[in-house]
Amino acid sequence: MVWLQGSVLGHAMRESGVWTYGVVNLVHILGVASLFGSIVVLDLRLLGVWRTVALPSIVGTTVPVATFGFCTAALSGICLLATNATEYIGNPFLLVKFPAIAVGLMNVLVLSSLPSWKAIGHRELSRREHRQLAVAGGVSFTSWLTAVSAGRLIGYW
Ligand code: HEM
Repeated sequence: MVWLQGSVLGHAMRESGVWTYGVVNLVHILGVASLFGSIVVLDLRLLGVWRTVALPSIVGTTVPVATFGFCTAALSGICLLATNATEYIGNPFLLVKFPAIAVGLMNVLVLSSLPSWKAIGHRELSRREHRQLAVAGGVSFTSWLTAVSAGRLIGYW
């Protein structure tokens, strides 16, 4: 945290005008909104909601938006953190948020390696494969909801 705060990024965030933090925070929220707004739709579909909507259509529209949202949130988040990184030392919500993000990302890795995920749009899935996707959807929903909630609460500690 000390290194991050003293980095070029930390200096740039603090010394480049009074609006910098506010604008980067806005970008962070737009990233979070894109990520969470799209991932919730995908997760609920994997959990079995809106079964009449074809899974390939949902995957094709939500995954690019979620990826863009995550990259935007991560890049802007590092800038926010660098501004006053040492102030967050001991903040319990940060210690909840980052592991939750890590679990969300690991779930993406596991999900995308599953044969059932790769088979979407190519063949009918078995009941067992639908259950597998539902578990991944549940883990995803829980981890991103935890990350958003802890992220929002960081500032109140
Ligand atoms: C490397 C990734 C990330 C870093 C370093 C990061 C860091 C930060 C920091 C430093 C803040 C400001 C806390 C404050 O003082 O109020 C913040 C706010 C927030 N973050 Fe992140 N974040 C990251 C990714 C994410 C992701 C992926 C999500 C959502 C899933 C998220 C959700 C939020 C929310 C909801 C806020 C509150 C914004 C507000 O109320 O103004 N962050 N983040």
